[in-house]
Amino acid sequence: MPTTPAFDMVLFGGTGDLAMRKILPALFEAHRDATLHEQGRIIALGRAASSRDDYLRQVEAQARTHVRVGADDAAWRSFLERIDFLKLDSSNAADFQQLAGLLARADGERVVVCYLATAPRLFTEICAHLAASGLNHGNVRVVLEKPLGHDLASSAQINAEVGKHFAEHQIYRIDHYLGKESVQNLMAIRFGNVLFEPLWRREWIDHVQITIAEDLGVEGRGEFYDRTGALRDMLQNHLLQLLCMVAMEPPANLHADAVRDEKLKVLKALRPILQDDVPRYTVRGQYRAGAAGGKPAIGYRDEPDVAPDSRTETFVAVRAEIANWRWSGVPFFLRTGKRMAERLAEIVISFRDVPMRLFGMPSALQGANRMVIRLQPDERISLHFLAKQAGDGMRLQPTSLALDLLSTSQRRRADAYERLLLDVIRGQLGLFMRRDELAAAWRWVEPILETWEAEGSEPKPYTAGTWGPAASSALLSRDGVSWHEEL
Ligand code: BG6
Repeated sequence: MPTTPAFDMVLFGGTGDLAMRKILPALFEAHRDATLHEQGRIIALGRAASSRDDYLRQVEAQARTHVRVGADDAAWRSFLERIDFLKLDSSNAADFQQLAGLLARADGERVVVCYLATAPRLFTEICAHLAASGLNHGNVRVVLEKPLGHDLASSAQINAEVGKHFAEHQIYRIDHYLGKESVQNLMAIRFGNVLFEPLWRREWIDHVQITIAEDLGVEGRGEFYDRTGALRDMLQNHLLQLLCMVAMEPPANLHADAVRDEKLKVLKALRPILQDDVPRYTVRGQYRAGAAGGKPAIGYRDEPDVAPDSRTETFVAVRAEIANWRWSGVPFFLRTGKRMAERLAEIVISFRDVPMRLFGMPSALQGANRMVIRLQPDERISLHFLAKQAGDGMRLQPTSLALDLLSTSQRRRADAYERLLLDVIRGQLGLFMRRDELAAAWRWVEPILETWEAEGSEPKPYTAGTWGPAASSALLSRDGVSWHEEL
């Protein structure tokens, strides 16, 4: 992997959870691989450390424990040398002048990456101060973490404010799912092979399922989560991005805008789910006490910082449709939830049955042709089909071919954040959301959120450690199908 250009990574929220759990460990991995330019500096900003030494102690105690394959001492020490710390209050213009002074001290042309790993309400203020200190020149890029807004209006407002100071090509909106190796593999499989394309359409595909299930609960983020819910936290971004990857037309090339134009077309073609359709095509759930990951789990309403009568959904399932020639009439079932039976992200492409039953197949063998793309915890593609049962007669039985993608390459797999951080430093925008994509995604989910709110109904309860409320299975059974694990 060629090294990056020289850079300054300015980390707003440098003492926060995201910096410690994801960003610094990812930068360390790239450092250990010698992918970072030797002139690359990390300037962490925050208020929860008093000095560089104090900050490095925090990094040692927190970030180091999140490095996947332990950090050896020599590599770790040389990594720490890249890090500087500045105590910065995001409302104080003088602090930004000090930051500008620190950045100006570096030699030569450098990329400046301002990573805003802070609460989104600070984005506007930080960008305005950066611009006022001259830190919005052509070499500066800003990285915005999700959630970008709470609805269409608030997201449009953040984008408009940031857009006053930075051009669109300087703005990198993170959806970390796009940085996952397995998600990029989906593009490779679809567009690098001729095998699947002829089948990848309504004539041959019966329906598609996309699941991101987590066994974890809200993990100390009760306050944020209770304001957010599964639809905003996961479906509006990660699940819709996966849907785009499955449904988009082949782009003319791999330039960022060629790919993003195709994804945008999918988002715009999503059939709106309006008021009366909301109860029919969506399910929201909330976990009650149970057991998950082999341990007892408390109910959502008993989680710290969650309202005891909270109506926030910790599970959502939606039946979506894409109104275009390729997909018209094909249901896309999307679901995600906390405290589900296991941690699992997968896409199931379910093909139609053969036009005539030559072998008198029992109905249990219907829907037998499936392609399952497992994104996590393992990375695997399996093709399910029917073959003859050995012996007398002509009976069919389900069988499958499986490919373990982890074993096909010896190379270390970069974590999503590592891949995305390197892309920002290199100026590659392809795996980041464009402003119009974000708006289109909000436009589609907003009527669902509004209807839920107006209805004032309770989310359906489900026991922690299960696959969600019974209504989730019912959502599919109306189309005569079942979730993959129920087959
Ligand atoms: C984040 C959500 O975007 O994605 C979290 O805010 C969620 O609630 C996380 O746990 C899941 O990511 P991953 O990569 O662990 O599947």
